[in-house]
Amino acid sequence: KILRNCLPTGPVPLPPMSGTGSNRFRSTSSMGYSELARERSKTVTSFYNQSAIDVSAEKASVRLTLATLLYSGKSPDGHHILSSAKYLHKELPVRIAHRIKGFRSLPFIIGCNPTILQVHELYIRAYHVLSDFPPIKDQEVEARFCKLVQQLLDDHKDVVTMLAQGFRECRRHVQDETILRSFLDTTLCSRLGIRMLATHHLALNEDNPDFVGIICRRLSPKKIIEKWVDFARRLCEHQYGNSPRVRINGHVAARFPFIPLPLDYILPELLKNAMRATMESHLDTPYNVPDVVVTIANNDIDFVIRISDRGGGIPHNIVDKVMDYHFSTAEESAQDPRMSNFFNNITNSGNQSSPMHGFGFGLPTSRAYAEYLGGSLSIQSMQGIGTDVYLRLRHIDGKGESFRV
Ligand SMILES: Nc1ncnc2c1ncn2[C@@H]1O[C@H](COP(=O)(O)OP(=O)(O)OP(=O)(O)O)[C@@H](O)[C@H]1O
Ligand SMILES: [Mg+2]
Repeated sequence: KILRNCLPTGPVPLPPMSGTGSNRFRSTSSMGYSELARERSKTVTSFYNQSAIDVSAEKASVRLTLATLLYSGKSPDGHHILSSAKYLHKELPVRIAHRIKGFRSLPFIIGCNPTILQVHELYIRAYHVLSDFPPIKDQEVEARFCKLVQQLLDDHKDVVTMLAQGFRECRRHVQDETILRSFLDTTLCSRLGIRMLATHHLALNEDNPDFVGIICRRLSPKKIIEKWVDFARRLCEHQYGNSPRVRINGHVAARFPFIPLPLDYILPELLKNAMRATMESHLDTPYNVPDVVVTIANNDIDFVIRISDRGGGIPHNIVDKVMDYHFSTAEESAQDPRMSNFFNNITNSGNQSSPMHGFGFGLPTSRAYAEYLGGSLSIQSMQGIGTDVYLRLRHIDGKGESFRV
């Protein structure tokens, strides 16, 4: 009874982990050393001893094509919303269980990192609250389900930063890079898929004639590029005192159905990189820098966005590394004496990350997302001049088979 009183009383209490029950919330002050050690090992086992998760992790995930999402139709009685909620309710725990399995398979030294454990625990918690949710049989339950989904989206919003931080702390203990890459590729893409499905469902409840859920019926690549150019230029001006202009050419009038969400992640990353390279290769003439040029090419299978900068290119000795998670030259540039004007507050705090660059996650994450969506991200460096980055994405309703989310 005393133990039960120690349980936190938040709105959605953490589900007890099988085997340990509420013990994990017990105050440690009264425990002896060996008892503490036993307690700690129980807490760690509780991450692994969860039979319901094991069962779900064996089930196959059901991935939908975007064409299915786009054409599944709207019913006046809201029937389509109910069936979408039912699909999510069944699908999300399975996908989350697959991710939990991924956390469990990490090398011990990484799985025990406190930041990684925190993310692991977020997933376990999400698994339980979703699988404990009652069957969705009417609109009232569906509305409550939406609240829960929104809450989980908020709870998980910092997961990428947390993973970047956690892995940075312990990656030196791991010799095999491919383990990290495949874990991060899978976890980040699965997260993108889950977030697309979840926000799609929430958006079905909104009435916007230009959208079906999160799919924009007539997306203009030029418009969305312009939006992120404004954003990246503001950051760049803040950091370097000026920013390159951006010219957009090619199929500027193109419009087609597509989901803005992945572009909202990838475009700012690529534009920030291009602008940073431009500014840092012109540190002596920051008010006279070459433009960045973005070219759009559209066809009936896919569309390509090329971002060309004249920022000196990616040097030969690092060109093979820029796609590695955590590879960044942020530290080197902070050491350039000419950068001292720009990095004042950052170098003082001993931390080289800034909104312009930081964890070395921009390129690898963008490439993983592009590939997940059936596309690609490739780089051509013209050492001494600049860099061209090609982002290629398949159409939803194109001639080729549409990708699955
Ligand atoms: N257009 C470019 N021109 C020259 N070098 C580039 C360009 N884009 C990327 N790089 C190099 O590749 C490295 C990795 O890029 P990436 O975007 O993955 O990480 P980052 O920009 O350092 O940090 P962040 O996680 O904030 O994106 C950069 O640090 C930079 O050295
Ligand atoms: Mg970057």
